[in-house]
Amino acid sequence: MSGGSDTSRELVSELAALLGPEGWLPPDDIADRLVDFRGVFTGSALGLARPASTDEVSVVVRTCAAYGASVVTQGGNTGLSGGAIPVGDRPTVLLTPSRMNAIEEVNTARSTITAQAGVTIQALQEAAASADRLFAPDWGARGTATLGGGIATNAGGINVLRYGSMREQVLGLEVVLADGRVWDGLRALPKDNSGFDLKQLFIASEGTIGIVTRAVLRLHPLPSAHRTAFVALRSLGDLDALFALARARPPGALSAFELIPETGVRQVVDRFDIVRPMSTVADWYVLLRFSGEPGVGDALIDLLATASDDGLIVDGVVADSTPHEDNLWLLRDELTATRSFGGFGVKYDLAIPPDRIERFLTLASAAVAEILADALSYAFGHVGDGNIHFTVLRPDGDDRDLERVAPDITAAIDRIVWDLGGTISAEHGLGRELRSRIVGQKPEIEFELMRTIKAALDPDDRLNPDVMLPDPPAR
Ligand code: LAC
Ligand code: ZN
Repeated sequence: MSGGSDTSRELVSELAALLGPEGWLPPDDIADRLVDFRGVFTGSALGLARPASTDEVSVVVRTCAAYGASVVTQGGNTGLSGGAIPVGDRPTVLLTPSRMNAIEEVNTARSTITAQAGVTIQALQEAAASADRLFAPDWGARGTATLGGGIATNAGGINVLRYGSMREQVLGLEVVLADGRVWDGLRALPKDNSGFDLKQLFIASEGTIGIVTRAVLRLHPLPSAHRTAFVALRSLGDLDALFALARARPPGALSAFELIPETGVRQVVDRFDIVRPMSTVADWYVLLRFSGEPGVGDALIDLLATASDDGLIVDGVVADSTPHEDNLWLLRDELTATRSFGGFGVKYDLAIPPDRIERFLTLASAAVAEILADALSYAFGHVGDGNIHFTVLRPDGDDRDLERVAPDITAAIDRIVWDLGGTISAEHGLGRELRSRIVGQKPEIEFELMRTIKAALDPDDRLNPDVMLPDPPAR
């Protein structure tokens, strides 16, 4: 990066003066923000802007534009597709709304919460719970991931099955546009048919057309009871039947349905303070939760009995205390390959039509084994939504062979995903990692429309360049 040019130096001193010592950090102080969670992407920046208000975000964007610098926005830096790391050789300012972390209002009459972009997902959950409401989005990085990042990536997680992803929670947004203007779209109307639904453009836009500064979000009734079970599948082929059974009784009670492999259980039990849920060992387990009225606990016990009678599961436990339940969910939180194996491997965040998950796993593992015999195909995830986190690993941690064949593995996986009618990005976005691979998965006209929107809202390509949007086809 041309960080040493006179223009860049002027920009840096102007931003440092505008934002003060709390609001501007030099590159040496932000090493942890220049590498992504998995250690795959490393970037560089002129410094980190930490604006304290929407007006300051606007000033940073305008000042960068005046000097021809790009702005890359980063929330908690828990993203898994490299979308928030300033890679590239343009002069770039990294911006984080970490000081804008206020929860401005919990409105119980409207069941909404209004907050600034830098607040963590966990803080939103806790604020909602203390008002007897549920803020539904939930995933392992809840304590670090931010609202702004969650909106910019349309983050998913374990509750999507019942409540939808971030998109379904957003009622209104405030956004700083690429030219520094502020759009106040914080209208919290569940129904609003007055033209384009512009907030939807910014959700999942990965920082490429605007910077989300505040949001008003839907809250849900806090279920008065919930119960979690961990069951051992007889075989992966029984996943579908178990899901159908769990969804039907009682309708609407199922709030999470996660596939867990024995390989993952072994790792997290070894590495963390997690107790093996049951002595029965099977290849695959499902972690599921019922939420709703107090009767859901009995319904879950009943479900396990039926599933066992039907021969779908070989064993199961229902958590009978909060620590017991917490142990099961902690096990789930630690399953990412980075945590469970301490390596990153080659990661895929796929969605497959739920009834084809077994087929996908069979085909994908076979394809991987053919390319690299001693590689491990490691899969887990939100199968209730068809979302599989699939990682190819070398269990011994030696990734060198893997790096060599990774493009072949990716080509094989992508082909299988397309054949089965899936997508290569279920919930982690495209970021830098997938923006070329998405080509061919959607009609080219969709990319043309996306580029048209980008060009209209960020004509100079200042916001998060080279992220999400594939390059136009060569003519
Ligand atoms: C999870 C992340 C990888 O579900 O999305 O753990
Ligand atoms: Zn996930």
